[in-house]
Amino acid sequence: MNQKSNNVISSTQAADVIDCRADFPALDQKINDHPLVYLDSAASSQQPASVIDAVRAYQRHDHANVHRGVHTLSHRATEAFEGARDKVQAFINASSRNEIIFTRGTTESINLVSQSFCRPFLKPGKKIVITHLEHHSNIVPWQLLCEQTGAELLVAPIDDKGQVQSDELIALLDESVQLLAIAHVSNALGSVLPVKKLIDAAHSMDIPVLVDGAQAVPHLPVDVLDLDCDFYAFSGHKMFGPTGIGVLYAKEALLENMPPYQGGGDMILEVRFDGTTFNELPYKFEAGTPNISGAVGLGAAVDYLTTIGMARVAEHEHKTLLYMASRLADVEDIRLIGTADEKASVQSFMLGDIHPHDLGTILDHQGIAIRTGHHCAMPVMDFYGVPGTARASLAVYNTTDDIDRLIDSLQTARKIFG
Ligand code: ALA
Repeated sequence: MNQKSNNVISSTQAADVIDCRADFPALDQKINDHPLVYLDSAASSQQPASVIDAVRAYQRHDHANVHRGVHTLSHRATEAFEGARDKVQAFINASSRNEIIFTRGTTESINLVSQSFCRPFLKPGKKIVITHLEHHSNIVPWQLLCEQTGAELLVAPIDDKGQVQSDELIALLDESVQLLAIAHVSNALGSVLPVKKLIDAAHSMDIPVLVDGAQAVPHLPVDVLDLDCDFYAFSGHKMFGPTGIGVLYAKEALLENMPPYQGGGDMILEVRFDGTTFNELPYKFEAGTPNISGAVGLGAAVDYLTTIGMARVAEHEHKTLLYMASRLADVEDIRLIGTADEKASVQSFMLGDIHPHDLGTILDHQGIAIRTGHHCAMPVMDFYGVPGTARASLAVYNTTDDIDRLIDSLQTARKIFG
């Protein structure tokens, strides 16, 4: 974190108010002559100067390939890359750095589990269980896998508030289920799933659990040891890091027994035409030159979040989300979509019969960035009978002032559309 950011955070800690907008250079601009209000962090969050600077410093001074060089720059690059792994391990409280696999993001992490953990053992009669509120990246890999193996995909229902019906999910679990794959937080609805309870239920039947944590890690304290999940996937670019870098956490004993996901350089110890010996963990799952600068940026993002403290991040965002939901609820003709009792960072809504895309465009004219569409969660849209929603999503840099601007802009949109 830069010097200025440190000052901002330490001077506000006593009052427990987080005012870190100044740490994020992209937030300091006007869009269509209005100061930017960024409410699209569920799609991709902005980066603090400390992350941008860490990536730039790496690129300017330390870049080389990792692991295989004897020269100074290669040593520096390896240190930076592996240092980022250590930071991620500590951040999610994994037992070992061998359990942190760098991937391109949540999507690749889930595909890795699908193909390396599930595919070798899946066959007709076996099942994968997901829920109705999953992102496409936690649906389509399982559909592909089921087509490849003849296994069956079961979907646990949600209720009108957008909450997974835990009892009905647990009723789907039996010895034929090979994996339960669930979101921690829904990207379209903001619902927080009772992951610990579901993991305990699955484990009581020896069913391993994958958690899609893309929308949780930036917003809630996540402790994989406490959750006891088998796999946990997340992305750098939703937690103030760069795009193209993400993480698969997996229990070491499972990774040891899984075949590599991709073949190539760095994932081997020895290659001969009569057979190849794979590298040790975590490198067995990191074929080819990795995204080194992305990992450096992710490490800096972890530092940034750690300095603020995830409990404070969660508290700040929770208050802001409650404020947003209550102010939105007072807007005439609004329909809130996703009203779960436990929520984080996201509120979807419809305003009268204004198409979400039109609404998003009107808001952009007033400097407000929201997301509109199906949010890569088409089954959720089908459930609510809408083609898409408008979605405002928060990060720690958002304040109630941002919400007031959103509400004013929605009132303007109502007037424009009569
Ligand atoms: N998964 C991203 C979102 O929710 C793109 O917007």
